[in-house]
Amino acid sequence: MAFAKRTCTCGELRTADANKTATLNGWVHSRRDHGGVIFIDLRDRYGLTQVVFDPSHSKSVHEAAEELRREYVLSVTGKVRPRKEGMVNPKLPTGEVEMLVDNVEILNRAEPPPVEVAEEKVHASEDIRLKYRYVDLRRQNMQHNIIVRHQVVKAIRDYLDGQQFLEIETPMLVRSTPEGARDFLVPSRLYPGKGYALPQSPQLYKQLLMVSGLDRYFQIAKCFRDEDTRADRQPVFTQVDLEMSFISEEDIQQVTEGFLKAAFAVAGKAIRTPFPKMSYQEAMDRFGVDKPDLRIPLEIIDVTTAAAKSGYKIFEDAAHAGVVRGLRVSAELSRNDIDEFTAFCQRHGAKGMSWFRVTATGLESSIAKHFSKEALAAIQKAMSAKEGDTLLLVAGPWKLACAALGLLRLHLGEKLGLVKDELRFVWIVDWPLVEWNGDEERWDAMHHPFTSPKHEDLDHLEKEPGKVRARAYDVVLNGTELGGGSIRIWDTEVQRRVLKVIGLKEEELQEKFGFLLEAFRYGAPPHGGIAIGLDRLVMLMVGADSIRDTIAFPMNKAFQSLMDGSPSEITDAQWKEVHLRSVVLPK
Ligand code: AMO
Repeated sequence: MAFAKRTCTCGELRTADANKTATLNGWVHSRRDHGGVIFIDLRDRYGLTQVVFDPSHSKSVHEAAEELRREYVLSVTGKVRPRKEGMVNPKLPTGEVEMLVDNVEILNRAEPPPVEVAEEKVHASEDIRLKYRYVDLRRQNMQHNIIVRHQVVKAIRDYLDGQQFLEIETPMLVRSTPEGARDFLVPSRLYPGKGYALPQSPQLYKQLLMVSGLDRYFQIAKCFRDEDTRADRQPVFTQVDLEMSFISEEDIQQVTEGFLKAAFAVAGKAIRTPFPKMSYQEAMDRFGVDKPDLRIPLEIIDVTTAAAKSGYKIFEDAAHAGVVRGLRVSAELSRNDIDEFTAFCQRHGAKGMSWFRVTATGLESSIAKHFSKEALAAIQKAMSAKEGDTLLLVAGPWKLACAALGLLRLHLGEKLGLVKDELRFVWIVDWPLVEWNGDEERWDAMHHPFTSPKHEDLDHLEKEPGKVRARAYDVVLNGTELGGGSIRIWDTEVQRRVLKVIGLKEEELQEKFGFLLEAFRYGAPPHGGIAIGLDRLVMLMVGADSIRDTIAFPMNKAFQSLMDGSPSEITDAQWKEVHLRSVVLPK
């Protein structure tokens, strides 16, 4: 069907265009009838323009407009004119003008939208939004997020291109890649009983590209991980993935800071570089988590020494086998609040929470009578507590106490309104290479098995693997892990030793990673890299609540795609084609 094509977009017309004839194409955003005159805001990606159907100007056009409803697709042609005094809308860039319509074509009719497009606040549930995502994406917020995402990717591409990086695609049907999640599997039709995995990341391939001498690689890479459902994760997500040769940690960190700076500039936000660095141990000690939110001015304070001889048995026992730590809040908290915080700590693994109020005469609490005077004074001193403060303490094993207080710190930040409006980046460095997996009784790689140990810790590798630090770094923004990377092992022998420590048998090792180890025999350069979660980056930039709001077609929280109904039944015929038969076992 031929139709009158737009001569400009719905965001373009200004006072200077008065008296010009223009054609606009777009959707009916809203409609108002005023004394027989119909006003429509016509919308496209670029904006809104008010178009007017006036019966005194054209009866037939006005009649045609009677039929128009929200989300109808139109082509309208008419003369641009300044709006009448008092009718100017300063919120719209086109708000000084309107179009008096001479001709209207209905290009398509629309059913009432399942998601309100015109309202700023969305009322539909997320599942309805995702089922009708194509309508949801018409909303201004969503269009903004998608546009920012495009601009961010472009800024990063331009920046990396300027730094001699090559954008290289790596395969999507691969042998399993080692990021620690489950693989999504693709059975092979041509090779019965065999199959491919979808890549959890381009990790092995980017390392091989370094062996190839391509020196600086990047990719806006799709990654697939069959993980358990979590609010801030998706089974398919995007990384800004890069790898460099002949470098050290600082080079990767500099490039990362460079492209993040370019990305944030898109949103008009200037960020300060270099980012501060903090060791994993320090992050855990001071903030109880490996991704500290530095916007909250609360720190975990150790009072183990003061607690060890306090006279209070719970503290003394904990001090013996673990730690006693706490948070100092510069406020008098109510009993209700304290009860709530105690329950919070218990929900997060602590046995309980102790508290003290700081008065002019010292620490007060229902448990204060169990403590010696000196111990109370020592705790107050250790926590630099002054009158009016409240002290919240957790006793227990190091990891458990840190974790509970770390979460309590975030909770207090929200509840007491302590979260500052700023962008706080930090590099977390000096990670342990491996961590003990109590369930499986083995050491697991903390990042992935290609992360280089620190040279000076290599001697401990077999005897005390838990002591070995990795040349790994994570970049954290406002309490979210934006990305992580490492200097890789490029020495076959060290690689073999690390893989053995994490319990890979020689045959397994050969079978899974033999091709990488073989490649290293042909001259691997020193190399390293990083991957940043693009969805998370955009989420933090636009202030979205979830990464789903930054992805055009995400899955819902339960990892279903409600729009196309996947995961869907696979027919017997489809299974047969790949030489399989489906028998669903009970869970
Ligand atoms: P890692 O597994 O830490 O490292 O991933 C890097 C970043 O990717 C993002 N991310 C996710 N985003 C959304 N949904 C998910 N399911 C998800 N999983 C990860 C996070 C994370 O920080 N190959 C290494 C990188 C390297 O060593 O160079 C890797 O993939 O923002």
